[in-house]
Amino acid sequence: MKVVSTIAGLREASAALLSGQREPSFGLVPTMGALHSGHAELARAAARENTVVAASIFVNPLQFGDPSDLERYPRSLEADVELLAEAGVKLVFAPEVTEMYPAGEPMVRLSSGVLGTVFEGASRPGHFDGALTVVAKLLHAGTPALGSYRAYFGQKDAQQLALVRRMVADLNFPVQIVGVPTVRAEDGLALSSRNRFLSASERQAALVLSRALRLLVGRAERREPLDLDSAVALVRSEPLVELDYFEVVNPATLAPLAENCRETPFNGQALALIAAKVGSVRLIDNMPLG
Ligand code: PAJ
Repeated sequence: MKVVSTIAGLREASAALLSGQREPSFGLVPTMGALHSGHAELARAAARENTVVAASIFVNPLQFGDPSDLERYPRSLEADVELLAEAGVKLVFAPEVTEMYPAGEPMVRLSSGVLGTVFEGASRPGHFDGALTVVAKLLHAGTPALGSYRAYFGQKDAQQLALVRRMVADLNFPVQIVGVPTVRAEDGLALSSRNRFLSASERQAALVLSRALRLLVGRAERREPLDLDSAVALVRSEPLVELDYFEVVNPATLAPLAENCRETPFNGQALALIAAKVGSVRLIDNMPLG
């Protein structure tokens, strides 16, 4: 395992690892650290499909609205490197803020468009512009000198994944984006670095999110009407949970399904998206339908 902190170092190290391979392929796993088994699964997927895998660990100031949120973000480089090594990562890129933003805040940055203003974007203005800008920078920084190029993102952050796919298509990035299914705790809670802030009773209450999503998955499998209203009512029946949104959308555009699709027998492909505050912790989750 090699840990580098500069873009030049990343390029040099990946070139050295890829050189001489018969069919070189490079997988990049962008993260902000504080890694858990969800991140490990991204790295394992990348290791299965590529001859060399690199992960980046960078807490990107540009995607945080609230400075105290940025400061509070957990950092655990040593443990992260160990987890990544076990998952098959050969190279870690862990830059300082000055390496990524040498001139301070970048003047030129990406706009996530209308897709960046709905759902998570509605409660976190500017978040997706900042996230896309750093993903673009990381994808450029990581572009291998030779071989094919893939980058791995979790379906847990469905809106981020949809936006990254859109950015890569709209701006012709020469990289294949791979979505990795959400890793959950045994009780169904989607793994997140924020789960550590839940009290025992809040964690128990938080299970209503995945339960409500599973309800919709079951109805979709049985080709029944989704009856989103009853799933919303289930979430609202949990006093510790304050629902933000719960929608059934097109997986690529995140456009809500027409009202009549929810009342007629379900037949097709969709994504159920949910976000809620549990105590002071904001949680998001989603499940594919159909
Ligand atoms: P971070 O929150 O560290 O997540 C890194 C990657 O891990 C993302 O693609 C996310 O979707 C994925 N991930 C998180 N929890 C997961 C789970 N339970 N199962 C599967 N995958 C999971 O997302 C970011 O960082 C940043 O926005 C980043 C893309 C690195 C840009 O700064």
